[in-house]
Amino acid sequence: MKKIIKNLKFVMEPASIAIVGASATTNKIGNVLVRNFVDGKFKGKLYPINPKYKEILGLKCYPALSAVPGKVECVVIATPAKTVPSIMKECVKKKVGGVIIITSGFEEIGRHDLAKEIRQLAEKNDIPIIGPNCLGIFNPSSKMDTIFLPMYKLGRPGAGNIAFVTQSGAVGSTVTDLAAHYGVGMSKFVSYGNATVIDESDVLEYLTEDEETEIIVLYIEGVADGRRFYETIKKANKKKPVLVLKGGKGKGGQAAAMSHTGNIAGSYLAYQAAFKQAKVTEAEGLHELFEFVKIFNQPKPKGNRVAIVTNGGGVGILTTDGVEKETNLLLAEFSEATKKKISSFMPAYGNIGNPLDLVADSGVDAYSKALDILMNAPEVDILVIVTLLQTPPMDERIIHVLTKASADRRKPIATISIGGAYTEAYRKILESNGVPNYGSPLGAIKAISKLVTYADYYKHLKKTSE
Ligand code: COA
Repeated sequence: MKKIIKNLKFVMEPASIAIVGASATTNKIGNVLVRNFVDGKFKGKLYPINPKYKEILGLKCYPALSAVPGKVECVVIATPAKTVPSIMKECVKKKVGGVIIITSGFEEIGRHDLAKEIRQLAEKNDIPIIGPNCLGIFNPSSKMDTIFLPMYKLGRPGAGNIAFVTQSGAVGSTVTDLAAHYGVGMSKFVSYGNATVIDESDVLEYLTEDEETEIIVLYIEGVADGRRFYETIKKANKKKPVLVLKGGKGKGGQAAAMSHTGNIAGSYLAYQAAFKQAKVTEAEGLHELFEFVKIFNQPKPKGNRVAIVTNGGGVGILTTDGVEKETNLLLAEFSEATKKKISSFMPAYGNIGNPLDLVADSGVDAYSKALDILMNAPEVDILVIVTLLQTPPMDERIIHVLTKASADRRKPIATISIGGAYTEAYRKILESNGVPNYGSPLGAIKAISKLVTYADYYKHLKKTSE
């Protein structure tokens, strides 16, 4: 790994941060940045830099980077574009580890001259730059947070194993907010903007080796070096699953991408072919990306045989239709031994088949027994559990049953609950307990199909490397 990529550790988990352009004016970007570090309880040293102030939010403010005593590992810049090259020179003098440039107004508006100046300084001195024109880094475990959106407006997820890498700050921030809302944990968030120095391939390379990251999620519009991107994404996906969403697929989107970060979005067909060849999982939209992420957090299935458990006949049938539509999935055929165990608790009018319809008057105990049996049934690889929460015997104990089934990590599970506000409240609790929950049968089944495809690929890789 090149030194400049290794040095990304100084922006991912710095022990000391200087914020150039820190401001005392409430709601200015330079003010929110400082506030978020203070409110986020950043454990390292924090140095606001602005010659106008002696103090910002109770912290001593320094007139320039050179005035800071001791080492500064990471510098965050939020001053107008024309000032950035000279600040970058100060960073070189101060021997900082890495830089995050929030500022817009570089390649995306044709200021290639400014971009070139900072690139040369960074590359010559092995200083990784994230940005310009980005939100930068969020790392829940080191409390590194340069997302300049106030915490009361945009939630921050807790620590987890999913890294989210995004060319767009807006896509990044909304996904982050959703992750926080549903309790999905993140290892690292990287919004890299114009990719003037550090691009998506560099970040991918770093995260492939990052021990906290088990799943890499990527939103891209255009990449600078297609060949390298293909090789890097392929290598990363061999070690941990990479899920990708491509923006700028058509002509209008490509033109918008150009003025967004100054990168050429390129032919979508070429990207699509590369994703297929590298065996990465592609999502069609933001919602779907999030749906995929949830199931990839489950253990990899040993096979493709799906058992469906439901308390609603119709939703069970729709789920079955979904399984039959996906060519890489099979409906599990229950063995006689499994059927016999199920019959011990089923009402006489229940139907022992797959889907297993526990009927509407079955309660939490029936689910608990059914899941226990199917978790132990060798003919079942994956469990899809429809829980329609509106039925009279359903109560909050179902959360415990589903959470236990998920936490056991013996087979992947997906749950489906459809409904209004009451159901939504349950869905949120399930998600924050790490139980993937879907609001539609087809959404759940498509996500499972992607997980099975990846698990097959992973199995194949292991076999060929043995
Ligand atoms: N050293 C230290 N502080 C400096 C400085 C320097 N060399 N030059 C300027 N400053 C200070 C200013 O005094 C000001 O502080 P103040 O508000 O207390 O006066 C602060 O830095 C910001 O400078 P200002 O001229 O007021 O600029 P701004 O706040 O209007 O805009 C940016 C600065 C970075 C926010 C703006 O240029 C920008 O790029 N906005 C878009 C950001 C964005 O959307 N990024 C992409 C997200 S996906």
